[in-house]
Amino acid sequence: MASRSRGSAPRWTAVFLWWAALCCLLLPAAAVKHENFKRCDQSGFCKRNRQFADDVSASSSWTSPYALDPASIAFKNSQLSGTVLKTLGEGEHKARLPLTVTFLESGVARVTLDEEKRQKGDIVLRHDSKARKERYNEAGKWALVGGLKVSEGAALSDQVEQGYTKVFYGEGGKHQAIIRHQPFGIDFQRDGETHIRFNERGLLNLEHWRQKAEKPKEENKEGEEEKKEEEKQEAQTGEDESTWWDESFGGNTDSKPRGPEAVALDITFPGYEHVFGIPEHATKLSLKTTRGGDGNYNEPYRLYNADVFEYEMDSPMTLYGAIPFMQAHRKGSTVGVFWLNAAETWVDVVKAKSTANPLALGVKSHTDTQTHWISESGLLDVFVFLGPNPQDLTRQYGELTGYTAMPQSFAIAYHQCRWNYVTDEDVKDVDRKFDKFKIPYDVIWLDIEYTHEKKYFTWDPLTFVNPTKMHKHLEKRDRKLVAIIDPHIKNTDNYPVIDELKKKDLAVKNKDGNQYEGWCWPGSSMWIDCFNPAAITWWKGLFKYDSFKGTAPNTFIWNDMNEPSVFNGPETTMPKDNLHFGNWEHRDVHNINGMTFHNATYEALIERKKGEHRRPFVLTRAFYSGSQRVGAMWTGDNLAEWSHLEASIPMVLNQGISGFPFAGADVGGFFGNPSKELLTRWYQAGIYYPFFRGHAHIDTRRREPYLPGSPYTELITQALRLRYQLLPAWYTAFHEAHTIGAPIIRPNFYVHPEDERGFAVDDQLYIGSTGLLAKPATKEGADSVSVYIADDQPYYDYFDYTTYQGAGHHTVPAPLEKIPLLMQGGHIIPRRDRPRRSSGLMKYDPFTLVVVLDSSNSANGTLYLDDGETFDYQQGAYIHRRFAFDGKRNILTSTNLASGSRTAKLDAFLKSMTKVRVEKVIIVGAPKEWKGKTEVVVMEEGAKESARRKKTAFEYYEADGKKAAWAVVRDPKVGIGKGWKIDFA
Ligand code: GLC
Repeated sequence: MASRSRGSAPRWTAVFLWWAALCCLLLPAAAVKHENFKRCDQSGFCKRNRQFADDVSASSSWTSPYALDPASIAFKNSQLSGTVLKTLGEGEHKARLPLTVTFLESGVARVTLDEEKRQKGDIVLRHDSKARKERYNEAGKWALVGGLKVSEGAALSDQVEQGYTKVFYGEGGKHQAIIRHQPFGIDFQRDGETHIRFNERGLLNLEHWRQKAEKPKEENKEGEEEKKEEEKQEAQTGEDESTWWDESFGGNTDSKPRGPEAVALDITFPGYEHVFGIPEHATKLSLKTTRGGDGNYNEPYRLYNADVFEYEMDSPMTLYGAIPFMQAHRKGSTVGVFWLNAAETWVDVVKAKSTANPLALGVKSHTDTQTHWISESGLLDVFVFLGPNPQDLTRQYGELTGYTAMPQSFAIAYHQCRWNYVTDEDVKDVDRKFDKFKIPYDVIWLDIEYTHEKKYFTWDPLTFVNPTKMHKHLEKRDRKLVAIIDPHIKNTDNYPVIDELKKKDLAVKNKDGNQYEGWCWPGSSMWIDCFNPAAITWWKGLFKYDSFKGTAPNTFIWNDMNEPSVFNGPETTMPKDNLHFGNWEHRDVHNINGMTFHNATYEALIERKKGEHRRPFVLTRAFYSGSQRVGAMWTGDNLAEWSHLEASIPMVLNQGISGFPFAGADVGGFFGNPSKELLTRWYQAGIYYPFFRGHAHIDTRRREPYLPGSPYTELITQALRLRYQLLPAWYTAFHEAHTIGAPIIRPNFYVHPEDERGFAVDDQLYIGSTGLLAKPATKEGADSVSVYIADDQPYYDYFDYTTYQGAGHHTVPAPLEKIPLLMQGGHIIPRRDRPRRSSGLMKYDPFTLVVVLDSSNSANGTLYLDDGETFDYQQGAYIHRRFAFDGKRNILTSTNLASGSRTAKLDAFLKSMTKVRVEKVIIVGAPKEWKGKTEVVVMEEGAKESARRKKTAFEYYEADGKKAAWAVVRDPKVGIGKGWKIDFA
C-alpha cells in the first residue's frame, strides 16, 4: 500500500526502490484511516447538538428557550444591542447572552452572541487550568481586514409590531432584519422577501458555563458505580452529561477545563435548493444533504483542519483547511453566511421540499435548504450577505477577509515538485532535461529531504553541497526554487533554531503551561506559536539571506503540516487543551492556526532584505478565511486515481467561490503511480488549476513530463504550452481576483446565474472573464466529453473553430491528443504565442489577441499587465486595457482602463514596455462580408503623421462545414500599452 514514510532516512538502495515500486503495484489501493478521525457521534458537542436537533424535530410542543429582553434593546451607530436570556431549568437563573446586530455599509449584517458570565471572567476553570475564561473573540483579528464600516442609513423601522424589532439597512433600505423577541430569531429580507432565517427550527444553542458537580475525592467511585452516578445526575437534570467534561479519543484525553461550551444555530435559506462553499471537502460543488437517504451523507460536513492523507472521495469528512462561508443560490438571487468561528465546526444540510398546495392558488412547490451550524467553542459570530448575485457575494466576502494577493507572474506558471529531488545536482539535471525536451517550467521544489536531518533552515551537507550555485543555475532561465519549511521544529541538540524557540519561549504550550512536545517528520518537535507577535518577529529573522544561508532572491517557501499535523496527537493534530499566546486554548483557535503560520512566513519573505521589494510566494496546506491574502493552497495528499482527478475540479472551483481561488491539486496524484494516460489527462486538466504543480510521494516512480515518452511527453508539453500561451489571460484573471474577489476559474452558476439547469454543473469551468470554457477529460479511455452550454451564443473550439451553439449538452471530441476547450462568443482573449522555456523569458514577447465574435458580431476583453514581480503596481505601474470590437462599425479598439494618475513608476514601466506590441489579431466567426478584403486600417495614438492611418495585411478564411470563418491581421505593430483602432470596414 502506498503509505507515508514518517521520518525515515532517505538513503534508498536501488534494490529497495525496486521493491517499493513493486509493492505499490501489487498492493490494494490506499484508503483514508477512518479510525483516526471522529464522526459526529464521537465528538461530544456535535453529538449533543445533533441529538438536540432530533429531539426538537420529534417534539410537537418545543419552544426555543432563548428570548431577547425587549427592555435591553438599544440602537446606536447602526448597531442594535440587547440581551438574550436563555431560560435554564426551573427555578434557575437565566443565562444572560449579550447580543449585537451590526449593519455594515456594504449591506452585510453581523450578528454576535456572547455569554456575560464569561465576558466578566465570572467562572471557575477545572484542573487549575490557565486558559482564558472568555469565549474566544479574536477570530476577527486574524480573518477580517476591512468591510466593517457601519452603514449610515440603517434605521429602526417605525412600524411597531409587538414582539418584533425591525431594522432597515442596505442600499436604499432594501434590506430588513426582523428580529423576533421570543423565541429569539432573525429573518433577513431583501425587497420584502425573507432570504435567510436564524433559529427558525429552534436549534439555537449556546451552552452556557456551568460548574461540574464534583464528587468529593473520598467518595470517588470507579467504573460501574461512577456510571450509575452519572445516570442519576442525568435523570435529575434531564441532560446527558457524558460528553460535558473529559473526552477521550484514540488514547488521548481532552481535559476540557471549561466543560461544555458549544455554539449552534440553524440557518434556513427559504426557496433555495443549492448551497455551495464551506471548503475543504472532497465533494460536489452543490452540497449534498447530510441526514441520510439515497446517495446522501449521514454525517455533517466537518471543518477541523487535519492531515487527512489518502483522503476519500465523495465525503463530508474534514480535510486540511476550513472556510466557513456558505452561499445559497437560486434563479435571480444569491445570498450567504460567513460563520466566523475557528473551533471545530460541523454543518448539517437538509433540503425540505414543500409540495404545491392545490388549494392555495399561486403557491408553487419549492425547496428550502436548512442548515445547522455547530461549533465547539467561541462566540456566535455570523455575517449575513443578501447578494443579490454571486459577484456581490464574492466581492463582499473579499471586502471582509481580503482579496487574493497579486502573485508574481512565475507563480501562475508551472511548478515541478516531488518528494524529493535528492541532490543539488539532481535539481540541475531535472532543469536541464526540461530544456532539452523544450518543456516550459518556472519553479522546481524541494521537499523535506533537502534539510540536514529535518532541521529547517539547514541544508543536508552531503546532498545539497552548493545551494548557491544551484540557485544561480536556475536563475539563468529566470527560474525559481521553492523550499519547504514546516512549523514543527526539531527538538534536538546543536540546533540553534530550537534553542532560540525554547529560550525565547515562543512555542505552543501544553495544558500545564509548559512547552508542548510532539512527534512529526523530525521526530520529537515543538511548534512555533504564531499567535504570538514575538514569535512572528523571530520567524521573520530566520529567513534573512544571511540567516537562512544558501537561499537567494529566487527562493520561495512552502508551508506544509500547519493544521498542525502532529503524528502522535489526537486526530493527528494538537491536543485541544494546549495553550497559545494569550492563554487561548488550541480548541478555540485550531482552524486559524495554519493561517497564522502562513502569514508569518509571508511577512518574513517581505523582509528578507532591506530594500528588496518583491511579492512573496508561499504555498500553504492548512487555511482559513483570509489565507488568500498571503499565498496559494493545494488540496493535499490525493491519490494517482481517476476519481481524484475528477474530484479536483469541483474542489478547486469551490475554493474560487469561497474567496481562496489560488488553488490546485497535485498533478499526477500524490500517492501511487499514475498510468501514462492518467498522467497526461491530469496535465491537460492541471493547466486549469490556478495553482499548477506536479507533485509525487517519495515512494513513487519519477514522472517528470519528459519521462513518459512519445506520445505522452509531446501531449503533456502541448498542454503546458497552452497554459503558457494563455498566461496573459490568467494574469488578468488573477488581477480580477485581487481587485474584486472574483474566482479565477468559475463554475457555470457564477457565470450564468439565471440558468437553473446549470447550477449543479461542476465538471467544467470558465477561465476568469475570458469566455474560455474548459471541460477536462477525467475518465479513462475517453474520446469525447459532454460540454454543457448555458446560453445561445456561439462557442468555438479553441484550436479549429468548430462551432457549437444552442443551450444544452454538446459532444466535443477529446481523444488523448485533443484538449477540449471552447471559446464563448463575445470575448477577446490576450495570449503570447511564442514558446519559451519559462514565463520570465516571455516578459517582452509580443501579444496575440483572439477576438471571438458573438451573435451580434461584438466582443470585449481586458488585459492587465505589470512587472510581475514588485509592488510597483500599487503605485500605478501597470497597463490595463479594454479591447472592444464594435460589430456595427467593424472597429476594434484598445482603450485605457487604468484609473490612476501618471507616476514616475508608471512612466518607467511604460517605457520598459514600449517595444512590446500586438503581433497578431485573430477574429473568430469573421463576417462573410469580409471575404475578398486584403487590408485593414490601423491607427495608433501618438503615432507620427505619416503612420497615422497605416494599411496592414489581412487574410480571411471561409467557414468550412462546422468550422467557423476566421480572419487574421498580421503584425499591426500597435503597442500593447497604447490606445489604437483597427478599422475593418
Ligand atoms: C505531506 C505533504 C506532501 C509532502 C510530504 C512531505 O504529506 O502533504 O505534499 O510531500 O508531507 O513533506
